[in-house]
Amino acid sequence: MNLNDFKSGKIINELSIKEYSWNSPSNIALVKYWGKNVDQIPKNPSISFTLSNCKTTTSVKFTKSSMKSNSVNFDIIFEGHSNQNFRPKIEKYFSKIIEYCPYLINFHISINTTNSFPHSSGIASSASGMSALSLCIMSFEKDLTSFQGDEYFYKKASFISRIGSGSACRSIYGGINLWGANDEFKNSSDLYSIKLKENISSNFNNYRDTILIIDNNQKEVSSSVGHQLMNEHPFSELRYNKAFENISKLNLILKNGNLHEFCLLVESEALTLHSLMMSSNPSYLLMKPETLSVINQVQEFRKLSNIPVCFTLDAGANVHILYPNKNIREVSEFIKNKLSRYCSNGRYIDDEIGKGPIQN
Ligand code: PMV
Repeated sequence: MNLNDFKSGKIINELSIKEYSWNSPSNIALVKYWGKNVDQIPKNPSISFTLSNCKTTTSVKFTKSSMKSNSVNFDIIFEGHSNQNFRPKIEKYFSKIIEYCPYLINFHISINTTNSFPHSSGIASSASGMSALSLCIMSFEKDLTSFQGDEYFYKKASFISRIGSGSACRSIYGGINLWGANDEFKNSSDLYSIKLKENISSNFNNYRDTILIIDNNQKEVSSSVGHQLMNEHPFSELRYNKAFENISKLNLILKNGNLHEFCLLVESEALTLHSLMMSSNPSYLLMKPETLSVINQVQEFRKLSNIPVCFTLDAGANVHILYPNKNIREVSEFIKNKLSRYCSNGRYIDDEIGKGPIQN
């Protein structure tokens, strides 16, 4: 599909007021997206697990407006309060998607959003938030214009989510998702994500992710700045090539179910992401001493127990502990006894691979 295919169809219904609500989960990348062209066109493909418990619930009310405007008129309530912090990001998102959803300027849009994970837990909510908002817009488009089928609905939801926040496009489907054009995957695209479902080893069924909250402060350098720094990064081309190579390797691992290789690959991707930050100009460091202590403990535990538990990192200090569901008892004990001491107020969130967004 190309860009023109995402322009909305003819309006066939006159709607004056409509409201929709979606729950949409966050996701955690295994092979990371780091570096982009304009409008979140990724420099390399990425693969992620969609989560389940870490999610955003967003309701959007569309009210027909008589005012003529060139931009989208909206207000936003976050966790029960009017919130101006998100305005610039959402304003930018609307201004970019207007080309594909021009009907939006004829309505006043009231957004009401909450996260399931604790406020300021240091967990990025842009993936869950942008995907939930995009799904509400698509539900409205479905009622307003000639419906083009479920496949198109989710593809365009992923497409406009990407415009809001790159990684958000991987939250539209449950399970394991790939975003970014790659010859090895039929139908893959830089514009939206696709769900990987063929021949995935049952070793990945109900895979677990426990998120250790090491630091609940806002990170000092945003992901947008980090992506930007990749443009002048001395290692960027090497990184993009390596990411393509790792996508290929992970594709094989997802099929053969080799969890030992999975752990090595996922950890190397996480450390590569942070090494790119450390070698940017200016350089910066998002890991904290506790992040490193957890990493050491996880690697030692894996070696001693032979349980395929590994860590990954997002662009922050918090650590995601990934492990098979069948090892939940041993790993939960390990987390409680050995890792929780590194968490801010002992806080961690148990999550797992999820089934994807749900309309309320
Ligand atoms: O979607 P963004 O712009 O917040 O970038 C996300 C980048 C990482 O979370 C670090 C990696 C990824 O692929 O999700």
